[in-house]
Amino acid sequence: MFDSTIYAARRARLAQSGLSGVAVFPGNVEAPMNYTDNCYPFRQDSTFLYYFGHDLPGLWGTLDLDTGEAVLWGEDATMDDIIWTGPLPSVAQRAERVGAQGSGSLRALMDVLRAAGKGGRQVHTLPQYRAENRERMAAMLGVSQDAVNAAPSRALALAIIDQRSCKAPEEIDELEKAQLVSRQMYDVAMRMARPGVTEREIAGALTGVVARAGGLHSFPTILTTHGETLHQHAHDGVLEAGRMLLIDSGAESLEHYASDITRSFPVNGRFDTRQRELYAILHDAQVAACEACAPGVSFRDIHLKTARRIAEGLTELGIMRGNPEDAVDAGAHAVFFPHGLGHMMGLDVHDMEGFGEDLVGYGEGVERSPQFGLSALRFARTLQPGHVVTVEPGLYFIPALLDKWKTERRHEAFIDYARVESYMDFGGMRLEDDVLITGDGARILGPGIPKSIEDIEAAMQS
Ligand code: GLY
Ligand code: MN
Repeated sequence: MFDSTIYAARRARLAQSGLSGVAVFPGNVEAPMNYTDNCYPFRQDSTFLYYFGHDLPGLWGTLDLDTGEAVLWGEDATMDDIIWTGPLPSVAQRAERVGAQGSGSLRALMDVLRAAGKGGRQVHTLPQYRAENRERMAAMLGVSQDAVNAAPSRALALAIIDQRSCKAPEEIDELEKAQLVSRQMYDVAMRMARPGVTEREIAGALTGVVARAGGLHSFPTILTTHGETLHQHAHDGVLEAGRMLLIDSGAESLEHYASDITRSFPVNGRFDTRQRELYAILHDAQVAACEACAPGVSFRDIHLKTARRIAEGLTELGIMRGNPEDAVDAGAHAVFFPHGLGHMMGLDVHDMEGFGEDLVGYGEGVERSPQFGLSALRFARTLQPGHVVTVEPGLYFIPALLDKWKTERRHEAFIDYARVESYMDFGGMRLEDDVLITGDGARILGPGIPKSIEDIEAAMQS
């Protein structure tokens, strides 16, 4: 945990955001796998972690937005608990540890919240993404479960997004620690990959790296020679010569800050001509996108610039045709790059998307486009110092999608479907780095993970 002053300062800033009333922050509870006492690894709610720090189940926090008083709520361990868990600090001691002014039981919290509501004070809640917390929040407030997510406080969510979007120095340190784990993960993966090795063996080795570092994966690993399936979570394939392996994986630091990195590399360790030509297009577009990140620049514009670069490259190869700028305006490129350039990252790998993707990624007069491809852009705002975003363009040959478009003769002015035929078996590639926006530009977080053709081939020979 960070020093208590950090949590106190974060809450003080939220209390100064101009809101009035009481903000309620439920921590998470255990999620059973198959019976009550046999649970998935515990993951605390990120907003609770941000303001109240404690990484264990069953706690709630409140912040009085008028007085700035914070209270931690929960039950002290009973002797029965202690027999199984060993000695535990009291809720009062835990409150002190994060600089909160008071502590109390969950029953007392219910009385306080219901009295606040009756007394005409606004009780601000956030959308609840876990069924258990919807149920607990409904019971706490005396409302139906449907009502919990029907009327969350948009004002509270926006104030938190404003605060959590710009990462403080201690958060950047944590994000860097997660990058060190990612670096080790890709060292292992690039050394292990060769024809005949199973996806499962590599995925297991990556979990070993994460577990040895003491944290969790920041999301389920995507590791596949069928990168054209964007979120392929099954690791049931065997690596075959001639294919590209795509690994999209991440780790959490001990304080639960994420990394999210994607690399795509040839199973053989050497790019063949077709792989080299396509990879160069993606690599150049991804490098240019990272370089374009800077304060004051619209992430939507960087997405579109990246799409244009990919369309230019594909036009040079004869896969696309016509004017690449017109192709991107029309959305023709999206058959090869059907997702967005990236998302915010922090305590959540898709930071704060639990509040609603549009609340985090749109606003400032930027509306989500309905156009296929651009509609999948999760984050479209203007970059600011302290933002951390992923930059993750991809280049895919998705047979089902290409067949559909071909049958519909969709965008045939921009796509040479006859030429595409010889790429139908290629699969897909994505490249992803995590970028911190600084005062005058940006830098890629982490110690550097092989990405250029030369660096990947060298890493895979070592
Ligand atoms: N790394 C997985 C994702 O960003 O969706
Ligand atoms: Mn990502």
